[in-house]
Amino acid sequence: MTEITQPDLALLAFAREAQERAYAPYSGFRVGAAVFAGGEIYQGVNVENAAYGSTICAERGAAMAAVQAGQREFDAIAVVGDAEAPVVPCGCCRQFLAEFNPEMRVIMGGQTDALEVKRLDELMPEPFVRGFLDQDEYG
Ligand code: THU
Repeated sequence: MTEITQPDLALLAFAREAQERAYAPYSGFRVGAAVFAGGEIYQGVNVENAAYGSTICAERGAAMAAVQAGQREFDAIAVVGDAEAPVVPCGCCRQFLAEFNPEMRVIMGGQTDALEVKRLDELMPEPFVRGFLDQDEYG
């Protein structure tokens, strides 16, 4: 397991602060996330929808905020959920995040002091990345 650093804890605090603003009336499972990119922090929360499948996860919300602010490479993302155990990003979010650095740090927390820190490529070993689109051998 990757060692936990002071900056990891600081980023996690931003995720915890964002979590208060989660919109999760259906699951009741509030998630907050914070991306660190270009020296700045971008927060996100899960935003649920009456059409359940239209829900957006906190990690993608934070990633969207970072990209909309002009960031293209993320150093780290912290995510906090309402469970006791640290929450892991869903598969869709892992793929989405890999676009902006497959090696970023992922700091995961829950409602206790237990934390987990991994590199995204440990959670998502073979993302579909732009290199596949550049290959011309299929067309
Ligand atoms: N959720 C996230 O925001 N991030 C995750 O990594 C896991 C799941 C949200 C989606 C939904 O609003 C709620 O948690 C329950 O699945």
